[in-house]
Amino acid sequence: MRIRPMMRALLAGLALIALAGVACSAPVDTAPPATTPTTPAPTQHTTPPTVPPTTAPPVEEPGNGPPTTTPPASDEWIPDGVVTPGEYANEQDLGRFRVFWSSTQDTIRIAMQADAQGWVAIGFQPGRRMLNADMVFGMMVDGEAVVVDQYSTGDFGPHSADVQQGGTDDILAFGGSRTDSTTTFEFERRLDTGDPLDHPLQRGVPIQIIWAYGSSDNPVAPHVNRGYGEIVP
Ligand code: HEM
Repeated sequence: MRIRPMMRALLAGLALIALAGVACSAPVDTAPPATTPTTPAPTQHTTPPTVPPTTAPPVEEPGNGPPTTTPPASDEWIPDGVVTPGEYANEQDLGRFRVFWSSTQDTIRIAMQADAQGWVAIGFQPGRRMLNADMVFGMMVDGEAVVVDQYSTGDFGPHSADVQQGGTDDILAFGGSRTDSTTTFEFERRLDTGDPLDHPLQRGVPIQIIWAYGSSDNPVAPHVNRGYGEIVP
């Protein structure tokens, strides 16, 4: 009779210990799921940070930026029909026509640019209107720039090529390009070509210019805009 209560007490104690053991083992079973969610986090961390920061920005900025813009700013002149910053020492904005120029010891380099899809021309020192103007006429022929040394013999032309009037073509280099909004021609000639159909230019001495552009590349189609200006070579 005395042993039974003790047995009951022992059995109750054992049951409590067993229950406690189950309760303690439960967290052990849930432990693996608790570690699983932490596993993806590091993989997400490592992949993105290592790829973009090291490759994308550093290669593009220092690699391409300065070399394309800096050299032409000094003394490099490329007659490709693209006026780059610093390529010319002077610029005159005459509305829808712009002229850029620089002179060297013996030559003058000019870019003439119009907001147009046709021929573009400049003339030096006309006597009156177009008369006796020493012209340089640019047009696009089959997508290629053609720049011709011309001379106007009348108030409103004609202005055929110097070579057709007994003179010489004194354009040393030229190029041109057209965008959706502008047409640009660049050329170089000697300040004094020696050709009687060219006006001698002098560094530092102002010279009157005339300019014009057409709405097509037809060289005999009249201009849609024209005007006067002055440059100092
Ligand atoms: C392509 C053939 C050309 C034809 C048929 C032509 C014809 C004419 C005509 C008829 C005029 C008088 C009407 C007007 O004032 O608009 C004129 C004026 C004028 N043209 Fe031309 N032209 C031609 C090319 C050029 C070129 C290449 C230049 C310049 C490089 C030029 C510069 C001028 C100027 C400045 C005037 C105004 C004259 C004034 O003050 O009255 N023209 N042109």
